[in-house]
Amino acid sequence: MTTADSKPRVFSGIQPTSDSFHLGNYLGALRQWVALQETSDAFYCVVDQHAITVSHDPKVLHQRSRTSAAQLLALGVDPERSALFIQSQVPEHALLNWILGCETGFGEASRMTQFKDKSAKQERTTVGLFTYPVLQAADILLYQTDRVPVGEDQRQHLELSRDLAARFNNTYGRTFTVPEAYILKETATIKDLTEPEKKMSKSSSGPRGCLNLLDEPNQMRKKIKSAVTDSEAEVRYDAENKAGVSNLLVVYSALSGTAIDKLEDEYRGKGYGDFKSDLAELVAESLEPIARATREYLDDKAELDRLLTKGAEKARAVASRTLAKAYKKVGFYPPVAN
Ligand code: AMP
Ligand code: TRP
Repeated sequence: MTTADSKPRVFSGIQPTSDSFHLGNYLGALRQWVALQETSDAFYCVVDQHAITVSHDPKVLHQRSRTSAAQLLALGVDPERSALFIQSQVPEHALLNWILGCETGFGEASRMTQFKDKSAKQERTTVGLFTYPVLQAADILLYQTDRVPVGEDQRQHLELSRDLAARFNNTYGRTFTVPEAYILKETATIKDLTEPEKKMSKSSSGPRGCLNLLDEPNQMRKKIKSAVTDSEAEVRYDAENKAGVSNLLVVYSALSGTAIDKLEDEYRGKGYGDFKSDLAELVAESLEPIARATREYLDDKAELDRLLTKGAEKARAVASRTLAKAYKKVGFYPPVAN
């Protein structure tokens, strides 16, 4: 379903599970969040309920939710145009989660590869972690979402959301828009800087492999300069045989807007030193303003919380309509006012 002025509806979420987002989050997903505001009616959510599917510290979680929201604003999420909110402020997410959980097959949920990866790393695996993708489907379906900007690692979860929407509509009559994943091919997976065969990630990357948006500029330069390349000294894109250099080319191209083949021409015969120094400057220059703006948003806590409350109110107005429909369809009584 599209909105009254017929702009497509966009929804995405990000977990507040680190003190800073990283370059993979930024290029794989968050830049698209910002760009899509131009053409869409966007809802962006800090998914703190997903964050407690693994063990957490309440104080740290609370602080990280705020830092995450501040970073999204600093990146250019515009609270006037889009709804920016914290998931736990909109109770409809957990309520639809229950209904969708009762539509999800146990075997279907068992096939989710992210669950397998994450549970293997936990001492103790919770039911919440197992049903994580169902809550994600609830997030998306509540907003009658057309498009979901994410990185490649979310494709399977998006497929589940689509299947659940279609199944529910089929069983109970049209209720949910069937959403589509919006994944940019070029930046779908940014790789770890020290182990370029793996994706960049806050959990699995070593300290030098993951470039955080809130790193000090000099730290960013160091990380780029110490990125793993190869012994050829030829700046050429070849994801299979030159994973490290190819990843740096992807980052360079995404941040500069220059096509990869143009960059190859530019650095022909120059070796990796010049290439890395230029990229280190580009990264530091591009990301430093984001860190500065984040600090400014964090300095005014009351204003930030006010923006988030406004975002949650806007989100709830839409979410509660969808939930009421779903309640009716499955034969529930409506919630009473308190
Ligand atoms: P996460 O930090 O895993 O919660 O991811 C938040 C968003 O960033 C999701 O849309 C992911 O698909 C995306 N993302 C995470 N890591 C990467 C990466 N290395 N490359 C591209 N996108 C990523
Ligand atoms: N699972 C997503 C991630 O790890 C976060 C997420 C939760 C999400 N709900 C969502 C992403 C809804 C898109 C839409 O990145």
